[in-house]
Amino acid sequence: MNAMDIKSINAAYLGKVNAALERATALENTPELLRNAMRYSLEAGGKRIRPCLVLGVCDMLSGNENGSEGQTREMALCLACGLEMIHTYSLIHDDLPSVDNDDMRRGRPSNHKVFGEGQAVFAGDALLTYAFEWMLENGLRFENKNYYRAMLEIAKRAGASGMVAGQSLDLIAEAEKTMDEAMLYRIHRRKTADMLTAAILAGAYCANAGETQLNVLERYADKLGLLFQLTDDILDAEGDAALMGKTLGKDAENNKLTFVSLYGLETAKEMAKQIAVEAHALLCGNFADGAEYLHGMIDYIKDRKN
Ligand code: IPE
Ligand code: IPE
Ligand code: MG
Ligand code: MG
Ligand code: MG
Repeated sequence: MNAMDIKSINAAYLGKVNAALERATALENTPELLRNAMRYSLEAGGKRIRPCLVLGVCDMLSGNENGSEGQTREMALCLACGLEMIHTYSLIHDDLPSVDNDDMRRGRPSNHKVFGEGQAVFAGDALLTYAFEWMLENGLRFENKNYYRAMLEIAKRAGASGMVAGQSLDLIAEAEKTMDEAMLYRIHRRKTADMLTAAILAGAYCANAGETQLNVLERYADKLGLLFQLTDDILDAEGDAALMGKTLGKDAENNKLTFVSLYGLETAKEMAKQIAVEAHALLCGNFADGAEYLHGMIDYIKDRKN
């Protein structure tokens, strides 16, 4: 699958996800300011990589490439929306002055720049809680065990032993000016790879994947997640701020432990190429064919400019 194909498939997924998020976040009983703050960051856009992965993996494994609307796809869409709400909350909190202190996000002033720090904390809290409310409420109508397995995967990988753990370690490494390879991998796996893994496994659960498939996909997701944060680190050092929609150069300013600060820009780029090769090889060794979407995502993430 070439770059054009993956972009058009993801654009179709993005349309579905945005429409579903719009419906999901009517939030009629929520005070106006809180609702506005939640929607401000969600509607600012973003690449929607995690929801695309949920839908892409589900379609790939259920052979549902014509887009017929069975319950399998409906489950995947609900989980995709929940995951994007959780991811968006993580960005709001990541930008706070006490975390990365970033003024721009998704091409707009960061949530706390518009709503103030206190309300930005609450917008994040509310998005996180609402994500689970939304997924659970829909789960009642699906009555499908795999849907709950997927939710559990999301909860574990988003929380105290996943993304939040990575964010906590990231701040510790920053404060202690740690320059240690094992710590770098630990942080990047948790703060970033875990949420991408949750997306991929959630899609797989919806499609009723077996143990062997889940195992291979988890190994692929780990590589894709590391590649994603590697490219994020590289783009922070030399990307185009207008395309990225966030202030760049912050990692160096904050003394972050990143692939670029530990190995230098050129080595980080070589490592990105290498991990992409490994991810392709893993797919080739385990899927005779039919994994084009996942191959396409590797190159899309390796070559991304935003
Ligand atoms: C940014 O994620 C945070 C990281 C994990 C590096 P994305 O690059 O996916 O951000 P959006 O969703 O497109 O804004
Ligand atoms: C953050 O990593 C990952 C999250 C869990 C939000 P970064 O701090 O590098 O993300 P950006 O560069 O601000 O998007
Ligand atoms: Mg951060
Ligand atoms: Mg940040
Ligand atoms: Mg970054």
